[in-house]
Amino acid sequence: MGRARRGGAPVGARARFVLCSHAVRDLVTGGAGYVGSHMVCTLRRAGHEGVVLDDLSGGHRDAVPGDVPFVQADVADRPRVTATLRDHRIAAVLHFASRIQVGESVAAPRLYYKGNLAASIALLESALDAGVDRFVLSSTAAIYGAPKSVPIEEDHPAVPVNPYGETKLATERMLAAYSRAYGLRYAALRYFNAAGADPAEPHLGERHTPETHLVPLVLETALGARPHVTIFGDDYPTPDGTCLRDYVHVVDLCEAHLAALQYLGQGGESGAFNLGTGQGHSVNEVVEAARHVSGRPIPVVYGPRRDGDPPALVASCARAERVLHWKAKRSSLAQIVEDAWAFHARA
Ligand SMILES: NC(=O)c1ccc[n+]([C@@H]2O[C@H](COP(=O)([O-])OP(=O)(O)OC[C@H]3O[C@@H](n4cnc5c(N)ncnc54)[C@H](O)[C@@H]3O)[C@@H](O)[C@H]2O)c1
Repeated sequence: MGRARRGGAPVGARARFVLCSHAVRDLVTGGAGYVGSHMVCTLRRAGHEGVVLDDLSGGHRDAVPGDVPFVQADVADRPRVTATLRDHRIAAVLHFASRIQVGESVAAPRLYYKGNLAASIALLESALDAGVDRFVLSSTAAIYGAPKSVPIEEDHPAVPVNPYGETKLATERMLAAYSRAYGLRYAALRYFNAAGADPAEPHLGERHTPETHLVPLVLETALGARPHVTIFGDDYPTPDGTCLRDYVHVVDLCEAHLAALQYLGQGGESGAFNLGTGQGHSVNEVVEAARHVSGRPIPVVYGPRRDGDPPALVASCARAERVLHWKAKRSSLAQIVEDAWAFHARA
């Protein structure tokens, strides 16, 4: 379902980007992807300069404003990455680049051990070589596997049930060890379900190929690009039988990264933080919200449960609230679907 968007960032967005010698410079790996491209725009609104490094294996060049330095490279390419960190005098790395499909990670785990874990090892080597001592990792609720209880706190046992979660957890553990040994400071931000789009940046939205995330799948169905949405299981022990997930707006996620950068910049202690809302929404509720926002019918087909899908994944965000002073502000289901729909209806 890859849809090409023409024109890249609007002129107004470019005009807001003012080069300033005192601006903080951050490397955004995966900055041509969904969350990373939103981050680039959030950074510059906050007066930071983002430098994007992306191999375009899953991202879109037109998601990165033309005046933002862009390096097309694999994060595992140590000479290119180290040179980029040095040349741009990077203060912190925001590491979004990753393979992201749970099912693919089960079918082809080598892609995940190489593309996520080995690539992160190489990236950290480059960071240490270049003297970068702040690092923010895009981690995931998938590290918890099937939780024993919800809402999930950060010290809940981490028992991932697929290689995607395993490689993210291994990266977190590497960061913890490097932090103790080499003084690197990090925040591992464990996103629950990212969704939505930034209404201030109309060229940005969720464009994965293949798309596996519920909100865009539902909205593409509303647009007639898919015949129906398949709901995997309606016999879970949840109020309507479908799985509960914690949806967090991409704008809120980016604000959390800014908060983490500020926290680390002020000498904050390394650690992991859940990013969600503390509230679960069922698959049926998401479909209903999309019908309401789009005003269109969205046919659904109920299929069997998928292996490894827990009934409920809902975050406790008390730690992020207490330590990072971050709380999701734009993440009501209605707002998420409305902002995502604005992007999809335009695309
Ligand atoms: N989207 C979600 O709901 C969600 C939930 C939890 C965690 N995350 C994490 O957030 C991050 C961003 O997710 P997204 O949805 O924006 O994904 P995305 O696929 O849209 O973006 C990932 C980007 O990384 C790039 N990339 C991949 N491997 C690379 C490599 N080796 N070198 C250079 N670039 C590479 C891709 O080209 C792409 O632009 C990922 O780390 C993902 O695991 C996302």
